Formats: sequence, structure tokens, C-alpha cells
Amino acid sequence: MNETRSSLCNARLTYSPKLPFALREGANRVRIEKGHATSPVSNEDQISKLFPVTCGAPVVHMERNDATLSKPLKVGVLLSGGQAPGGHNVISGIFDGVKSIRNDSRVIGFLNGPSGLIEGDFREITSDFLSDFRNVGGFDIIGSGRTKIETDEQFAKCAETVRSAQLDCVFIIGGDDSNTNAALLAEYFVANDVFCSVIGCPKTIDGDLKNYYIETPFGFDTASKTYAQLIGNIARDANSAKKYWHFIKIMGRSASHIGLEVGLQTQPNICLISEEVESKGMTLAQVVTQFADVVEARATSGKNFGIAIIPEGLLEFIPEFKKLIAELNDGLVELVDELEELPQIHDKVIRICDYLSPKSSNLLADLPSTIQMQLLLERDPHGNVQVSLIETEKLLIELVDNELRHRPSYTGKFKAIAHFFGYEGRCAHPSNFDSDYAYSLGYSASILAKGGFTGYMASISNLADGVDNWQACGIPTSMLMTIERRHGKDKPVIQKALVDLDGKAFLQFKSKRDKWAISESYIYPGSIQYYGPPELSDSVTQTLKIDAQARQIKQLQAK
Ligand code: FBP
Repeated sequence: MNETRSSLCNARLTYSPKLPFALREGANRVRIEKGHATSPVSNEDQISKLFPVTCGAPVVHMERNDATLSKPLKVGVLLSGGQAPGGHNVISGIFDGVKSIRNDSRVIGFLNGPSGLIEGDFREITSDFLSDFRNVGGFDIIGSGRTKIETDEQFAKCAETVRSAQLDCVFIIGGDDSNTNAALLAEYFVANDVFCSVIGCPKTIDGDLKNYYIETPFGFDTASKTYAQLIGNIARDANSAKKYWHFIKIMGRSASHIGLEVGLQTQPNICLISEEVESKGMTLAQVVTQFADVVEARATSGKNFGIAIIPEGLLEFIPEFKKLIAELNDGLVELVDELEELPQIHDKVIRICDYLSPKSSNLLADLPSTIQMQLLLERDPHGNVQVSLIETEKLLIELVDNELRHRPSYTGKFKAIAHFFGYEGRCAHPSNFDSDYAYSLGYSASILAKGGFTGYMASISNLADGVDNWQACGIPTSMLMTIERRHGKDKPVIQKALVDLDGKAFLQFKSKRDKWAISESYIYPGSIQYYGPPELSDSVTQTLKIDAQARQIKQLQAK
């Protein structure tokens, strides 16, 4: 017995993840059927030039087949970006998949993300080594990183690594930016006679990497259930003590999928959805008024407590902030040397205010200095603002408090506590859903590699219908692509799937939130169940359930 492992951890190591029916007899018993041709989300002309190999390539479906013989594969795998529950299971699925092809197949893991591939830094993954990581959270098996593969030199070094390691395939487990990189690398390898395919697997707790075939990325299920548990616990505390408002910022960088999901799971008094704030063109002052109205309405019935959920990326969706952030992004690049020489944040703000348009300059100048500083922090390697470091929850508490003080009609007491839930959920032990799903993604990826597909992503669909009915597929990554302006240049990117304001999940939430605002309709979901009745241990997210129902209705209507 390993003394550093909890009993649950030990139990999870022996869990057998479930596979879709078609994959259960091993990768050699799977036939790949080509489906319909695809096209990118938009900008087809530009995308087809950048992705000549995969643009327009078909979706492929995996079906059970008679046994076939294959050569052994040598493959490499890397984890990219933020941790998401299930990463270890994708690697287990790849490992078991290639071993089912031939027992002498080999898997190596690149260390600490894409930089491991660039630098040729890897370790062999053996059955023994892997046995400590099956079905448990984290990316610590080989580490992760956010290095962006973008320069010619980096592409050439990746080619050198796979040639010298004689790899048949590299698997990139990542979010939208990492899978964009994977697709570009696949094209580079083909153009430069590097005979190694590149396959992506959709990961991110944020839930924003999805389309018709990718119903959700892995990790979203466990992360949102973990946050919902914590929020439910806080709601019960609030409803017991009846003295605090809890302002809870919830991770999910840009899109508000996690906010919406935990909102549906816990029924808080306020749950902002960034996409709606943007569609209404709301200012920060209007957001504050919306909060203060609910606080006041509850105070009128003697309720000086409540739960408010704030999506991590909120500020980027408030049009005036969006403009400010875009201008700051340019300014931070243009003034980089000058700003470095100014040691005081106050001087940096004065200098950058000079650079900004008058409106943005005023907005920045009016913010508390902590928020000013957080907005000026370095961008990540993909050019994203590090929204997890901006304390929007504290900003809103300050502004709502200020507004309430100036309202003669308000006679309540406003005591608020700020929380941020993000890192707490990224390395939780994957739920059964994420364990099975991530494992199935890895297993399907190994089958795509065996078939020689490149520039594809593994996909499993029909997820709300139980593993027996899951369908394993592969989709060309280019079908998710569009062109966006980044750092002043047109770049291919996977289009982020934002919350659909016409979608059933949002509409269901919208129809109930006014009641939730004034009542205590809180739901206390409790912790993730790994064992016990399937309705508890194999449950899926509300979003997945509601999306699946909407899909079914559409299909019936189309008949
Ligand atoms: P990915 O897009 O790489 O999956 O990252 C998701 C995320 O957890 C975001 O929700 C969050 O804003 C960001 O990572 C935090 O990044 P870091 O781990 O670098 O602090």
C-alpha cells in the first residue's frame, strides 16, 4: 500500500473505464468508414490554403469489424495547456489502444507540454509507470505547458524530434489553441516529408471546444461538478447564517459554459453569463446596477445574504473593457521597453493611459490600482489576457457596495465574501463520465493513428445516451477553423464555442433565474459519486442532457 495515496485514489487506480461498443474488442477489430466531406467554420479560401491536406476531408466513423493484422506503432503524446480531469485517461486509452494493435507498440510522453516535443525531451511510458496514474486527476504523469509552436525553427525542431525517435504519430491533448497548433504541425509534416501523423484530443474544463461531433471537451464534467459541490456548500452556509453575500468567480477563461452549468446545478440568486452581457452591450455600471437591484430586492424581504456567480472572463465581454483590453494588448507590445523601465505600476498606468484612446484611458484610470495592475500583466504565449489573475469578484463587491451606499431606498446590510473557484477543479479525480470519455478519446485516437489519419481530432458522440451507445469518430481539425486577427496578423484559429443564447440550456436558465433571484431555490449537489447507483455515479452535466434533448427534437422534426 502506497502511503501517499488516499483510499479513493487506490480504488480509482483499479477502475476499468468503459469503451463504446465498436472499440471493445481492440483497435484491430475496428473498421473506419468515411462519412461526409467537411468545410471550415468560415474563411474557406484562406483555410484551404493553410490546410491543403485536411481542409474538406471527411468525418470518419468507427465500426466493429473482423480482426486485421497491423504493424506495431511507436507514438508520442503530450499534454498542453491548463489541467483538466481525464488527461491521464487519454494517455491510458492511447497506450491500451496501441498495445491492442500490437503488444510491441511503444508510447513515449513528451515532458512539460509542447516544449518537450520541440526540445526532444521525453520519457518512455510503460505499463508499470502508467499504473500509478489511471483514472486519477492531474497532468503530472508527464507535465503540461503552454508553449506555442509557431516559428519555423520550432516546427523544424519538432520534425527532428519525431524523425530521430522514429514516431508514427504524435498525439496532442489540448484546447483550441493547442489543437490549432496540432493541425498546423500535421500540415508541416506532410509538406516536409515527415512521415508522422498528428492527432488531437479535445481537452479543456472551459467547455468551449465543441461542435456537432465534439459535444463537450473532457474535463468539463468533473470540473463543473466540483465547483457545483463547493457552491452548493456555500449556499447552504449562506442560507443557515443569513448574513453574507458570496461573490464567486468561476473559471472558464472566455466562455461562460461553466458558469451556466453550475448555475443550472445549484440555482444561485445571481449568475451572470458573459455572452449575454456582451449581446446587450452592457457597461460595467449596468452590470453593477443589476447586482445591486437583486441585493436590494432581497434586503427588502429581510434577506441580507445570497449567492452570485461571476464568469472568469466577464470583463472581456463588456464592450468598453473589450476595447480597453484590445488597446492594452497593442500598447503592451509597442511600449514594452519603455514600460519595463518604469518600476512603479502607477507610472506604467500613466504612460499607457497616454497611449490609449480617451475613453479607454478614462476607464483604466478609474479602476482600483489592483485591477489596473492585473490588466497590465503579461499575456500568455497565445496572446490571451490571464483572466484568472483579474479579481473581478472583488471589483464587483467594491462597486456594488458603493452603489448601495448611494441608494436612499436601500436599508439593508451588505457584507460580501469573495471566492474564486478554478484551480480547485482542474485536477480532481475524473468522474466516471470523464474517466470513460477521456479513455475512449485516447483509444479512438490510437485507431486514427493506425489508419494513418493526420490533422484529425478524436471524437466521441451521443454522450448523454450511455457508453453502450457512444459513437467513436474522427474529424478533420480544419472543420473547426476560422481566421482571426491576432497580434495584428490574420491567423487560423479554432473558433471558440461560446454559450448559445438561443440554445435550450441558456433558455432554461433564463426562464428560472428571476425566481432564483428572490427565493432560496438552492440545490446542494454534494460531491462527485464514483461508486453506487449509475444514476448517481454515471450522471452527465445538465448542459449535455439539455443539448441532447434539443438535438433529438431537431432530428425528429427533420424526419
Ligand atoms: P485551457 O484553455 O488550456 O484548457 O485552460 C483553461 C484554464 O483553466 C482557463 O479556464 C483559465 O483561465 C486558464 O486555464 C488559467 O491558466 P493558467 O493555468 O496558465 O493559470
